[in-house]
Amino acid sequence: MSTLPANVVRLPHTNQIDALLTIIRDKATARGDFIFHSDRIIRLLVEEGLNHLPVVDKTIITPTGNEFKGVGFKGKICGVSIMRAGEAMEQGLRECCRSVRIGKILIQRDEETAQPKLYYAKLPPDIESRYVLLLDPMLATGGSAIKAIEVLLSNGVAEEKILFLNLLAAPEGIIAVTSKFSKLKIITAFIDEGLDNKKYIVPGLGDFGDRYFTWP
Ligand code: PRP
Ligand code: URA
Repeated sequence: MSTLPANVVRLPHTNQIDALLTIIRDKATARGDFIFHSDRIIRLLVEEGLNHLPVVDKTIITPTGNEFKGVGFKGKICGVSIMRAGEAMEQGLRECCRSVRIGKILIQRDEETAQPKLYYAKLPPDIESRYVLLLDPMLATGGSAIKAIEVLLSNGVAEEKILFLNLLAAPEGIIAVTSKFSKLKIITAFIDEGLDNKKYIVPGLGDFGDRYFTWP
């Protein structure tokens, strides 16, 4: 994708991120290494996501007795993971935001048609008053993300308060989500070439959930 939609942020292509992504894309990478290096990218995504939260002026007194005019986060946040793969991103969020509330949405893609099916959603009761970090490592056709966003909106979350954190995206998924939702933000580590005939991201990394949770 040469031009990114205005509401899409891609992590900078540093040597570190390129090397981490190369490790997790490699089919020879064993599960332990896949988890370790995915977690490192997830941490970078969470940190970048937090950069996009609004702040308000806050003045504090330092131990030298001097005043410092700084800022503090403006609102409350929560995480929402799209199960199963999105659950892999919860720990990275907890490492940055201790005791953060986390909701779950269970959406599964049909293996034949790639159509998403919503099974279950359990969200913090006051979610409409929070910024939501929506967690899913893979954005392929965009079907699962769109369904999850619709669940958030129907629970009173304002679209501009949604930050979708994603590890690998296909242009098809980016276009599908941003053409429907122009006010939320997508923060992704990498945008790949496209989708294969089974709607897997190419070159991609395979099935993230399998590689993180059940790969040999
Ligand atoms: C994967 C992935 C996304 C979805 C992306 O989940 O984690 O949720 O596919 O594809 P889409 O953009 O075409 O909807 P999957 O349904 O395979 O379940 P899993 O999390 O259990 O692996
Ligand atoms: N889900 C995955 O885990 N990988 C893909 O490439 C597409 C959907």
